[in-house]
Amino acid sequence: MTTTSVDYNNQVVRQFAVMAVVWGIVGMSVGALLAAQLAWPALNFDLPWLTYSRLRPLHTNAVIFAFGGCTLFASSYHIVQRTCKAALAFPRLATFTFWGWQLVIVLAAITLPLGITQGKEYAELEWPIDLLITLVWIAYAAVFFGTPARRQIQHIFVANWFFAAYIITVAVLHVINNLAIPVTLTKSYIVYSGAVDAMVQWWYGHNAVGFFLTAAFLGMMYYFIPKQAQRPIYSYRLSIVHFWALISVYMWAGPHHLHYTAMPDWVQSIGMVFSLILLAPSWGGMINGIMTLSGAWEKLRTDPVLKFMIVSLSFYGMSTFEGPMMSIKTVNSLSHYTDWTIGHVHSGALGWVAFISIGCLYALLPKLWNKSLYSLELVNAHFWISTIGIVLYITAMWIAGVMQGLMWRAVNDDGTLTYTFVEALKATHPYYIVRLCGGLLFLIGMLIMAYNLIMTRYSEDKLSEQAA
Ligand code: HEM
Ligand code: HEM
Repeated sequence: MTTTSVDYNNQVVRQFAVMAVVWGIVGMSVGALLAAQLAWPALNFDLPWLTYSRLRPLHTNAVIFAFGGCTLFASSYHIVQRTCKAALAFPRLATFTFWGWQLVIVLAAITLPLGITQGKEYAELEWPIDLLITLVWIAYAAVFFGTPARRQIQHIFVANWFFAAYIITVAVLHVINNLAIPVTLTKSYIVYSGAVDAMVQWWYGHNAVGFFLTAAFLGMMYYFIPKQAQRPIYSYRLSIVHFWALISVYMWAGPHHLHYTAMPDWVQSIGMVFSLILLAPSWGGMINGIMTLSGAWEKLRTDPVLKFMIVSLSFYGMSTFEGPMMSIKTVNSLSHYTDWTIGHVHSGALGWVAFISIGCLYALLPKLWNKSLYSLELVNAHFWISTIGIVLYITAMWIAGVMQGLMWRAVNDDGTLTYTFVEALKATHPYYIVRLCGGLLFLIGMLIMAYNLIMTRYSEDKLSEQAA
């Protein structure tokens, strides 16, 4: 098939990519403040809007939906255009998705510190904002699915499959989990109650991890790693098996968040079994990504952008091994409610989600500006500083978590508890300080990235030809 040259819509991709860096810095700064508050609670200065309980959802919304979301909008719009050799469908709707999504983020940043919340984790935003999210998402779906409809290449590249699954699933999850009866503009009541509410919430929560924080980022991985390594995907067949296995298994694993609760025991067991099965497709994907480098490993020595991408896959493998282990009921009876969970979350969130995002943003933005990166040394410094940051963060949380679990369950011969809760808290304090140091290092890395990108943007050094 002959293809004609295409006038790609780079504007909206650039806008989302730049805002991803901005929101990343904002969300991680709030994370660092939270880490400091856990070590020294007086840092809320007795101001209601600075309290931990209000800032925590601000952190999770900012890093997941603002930083992660903007990265996903940017990369999915970029990838779908290039792999279909077609400009984005409905350019005005694409522009609307950018401004609409920024409005959602700003509204979240105002309402959450004011204490306006639905009280559902990762779905805290009140109903008017939920409606706005729905509108933006419908527009996103129209733009994303409309683009392959005009494609000049018959085959639909596997990255687009992952993005398609994420867009459809997030729509279904968002609408069903947020069904609520509004009372005022800032208050509504969710239609579910009790155990049903918990079940729906964690079907949502787990699949938000599965489709927002995993499937979509795998889509990025399948495009950017081969591109950066200049090698074909190790096994295209494996990528298709990976796709179908991952999306069909993820849906059933949610109850592992509800072990030892009022949920029927068989539901908890199904969650556990599906979580264990999930190890296989997750590692299939990781191996496929890492092996793409076979025969070209030496590139890791000279290309720090590729280092971000490959190390992100190592963290992906690590957190998708740890997750199934934590879903085993006996292990979960130790890990649940402890900082072990927080360690697991951030090995996935910092190691996988943030690292693959950072790698792709370094690969993407300079090309969109038609420039080469200002400094590869700074990218290398960023890589090492943030890797040390992650290691400090997650090892501190693992040690603290296992220690907490063991202290809470220790009993004396007469059946009384060996340790009071405050004793366990005091023992955790040093680890909270180490976690804060790790978080600050990660944040410093993001600031280096912002500097490097600003210098790239305003440098005189043009690429010889527009990179596609
Ligand atoms: C095979 C893959 C995975 C499995 C089976 C899995 C399993 C688990 C389990 C058992 C928990 C603890 C639930 C609890 O005790 O409360 C958990 C928590 C969590 N995991 Fe994973 N995990 C996986 C991968 C990931 C990845 C890659 C990420 C991040 C990108 C992630 C993010 C989270 C988050 C955010 C929580 C905390 C949820 C909350 O309580 O707020 N997981 N996961
Ligand atoms: C500088 C970087 C970061 C720091 C210092 C940081 C710090 C924190 C802190 C202190 C908490 C509260 C823990 C608790 O309640 O005990 C938290 C929770 C959380 N963070 Fe981060 N964070 C960072 C980056 C990220 C990123 C990039 C993501 C996602 C892409 C993320 C996702 C989450 C999630 C999902 C939770 C809730 C975990 C749960 O409920 O189990 N964080 N973070």
